[in-house]
Amino acid sequence: MAGSAIGLGNIWRFPYMVGEHGGAAFIIVYILATLFLSLPIFLSESILGRRTHLGPFGALAKISPGTKWKYMGLLTIISALIILSFYSVVGGWSVDYFVKSLTLSFSRGGADSVPAVFGSFISKPVAPLVCHTIFLLLTALIVGFGVKKGIELFSKVTLPLLFILIVVILVYSLSLPGSSAGIAYLVKPDFSKITVETVAYAMGQSFFSLSLGVGTILTYSSHISKSENLMASGIGTAASDMGFAMLAGFAVMPAVFAAGIAPGAGPGLIFETLPYIFAKMGEASPVISAVVAILFFLTILVSALTSSISMLETGVSYLEEEKGMRRWSAVGLLFLLTWTLGALCSLSFGPLADVQIFGCTIFELCDKLTANFLMTLGGFLFTIFAGWKLSKDDLRDELSSGGLHRPVAFRLTVFLIRYIAPIVIITIFITNLFL
Ligand code: PHE
Repeated sequence: MAGSAIGLGNIWRFPYMVGEHGGAAFIIVYILATLFLSLPIFLSESILGRRTHLGPFGALAKISPGTKWKYMGLLTIISALIILSFYSVVGGWSVDYFVKSLTLSFSRGGADSVPAVFGSFISKPVAPLVCHTIFLLLTALIVGFGVKKGIELFSKVTLPLLFILIVVILVYSLSLPGSSAGIAYLVKPDFSKITVETVAYAMGQSFFSLSLGVGTILTYSSHISKSENLMASGIGTAASDMGFAMLAGFAVMPAVFAAGIAPGAGPGLIFETLPYIFAKMGEASPVISAVVAILFFLTILVSALTSSISMLETGVSYLEEEKGMRRWSAVGLLFLLTWTLGALCSLSFGPLADVQIFGCTIFELCDKLTANFLMTLGGFLFTIFAGWKLSKDDLRDELSSGGLHRPVAFRLTVFLIRYIAPIVIITIFITNLFL
């Protein structure tokens, strides 16, 4: 589950969201949202998955037989696939940057020219499309072969490595002249920046980062053993996920200010900033810079893959369980669908930039629709189901793993699942919808 949670959402999305939505104030709302909304959703999904041993569609059908709720479960699976489509585009960018790091191209033209490289890369039609295809193909192959054991092993090696590399980059980033403005941006909140929109984005970021509301955690939990402590894995996953996001924020933002890049530069932020850091490092020591850059883009790529496979797995499990499809046919079908939508997202940075829907490009629309609306709706759905369709005894049974351990803060947890999370989520959802 940590493999699913920790990925581009932490390293790529978090820093640019912070930069677009007001720095420290955004971070405070994000932390609160994670503790009081995301954690209850995470637990709800874990409970529903482990209780029913089914994915979102099957779980809702089993708990509410004969009703149409299961189609809401299906909607969450579709959301996971929409995310996969644009996620794979950004995964493709990391493929390209990994290759660029192998050819040591960051140190060549001088640090100041590096940020512009990204703009010219994504606006081209072919190269980003090829990279998107490679990333999605890797995802499909891993899910097709069903190498779950391999994935777990992979995550266990790459996540600690990613941690070390981010710390190295963070320390270096702090040493750059002009970086202190970046730190101030992250720790001095401007409370006037907190609007309903900021709250909606911070909540969306928290859900995105923890893979919530799209049935992924529910699907993974359907394989968890009865003795596993759900509360411990929930807190562990949320804490490490939040830790990675913070580290990434503190590694990137000082360099953003040092390089004179606008914090609100959007989805390209880290792809403009990190190469700048590597180029600067290269001025002092080309070898260290090359090693850090290569390892860093490789670990980003792997952690992105451990997330993307969890999205595809959600859809593939559904087609296998509910439609009786064979694994490879399901993988093939979903590959075609997500590749097509992903290709449109990729082209929306170049030839399709003028295609705007509700004032958003196709990429922006897919991102906003899922993070700000569909994930929120899914999160609401799962807390309602776990909180109100299951009895208190069922909840106690799951949270104590059948009486194996004492459930921590049980009353508070149930209160959050039943009242706080659904009420706050739906209020922000509706307000944001009208805005
Ligand atoms: N949580 C993942 C990340 O941070 C993205 C994700 C979203 C994964 C939804 C699965 C489902 O990169």
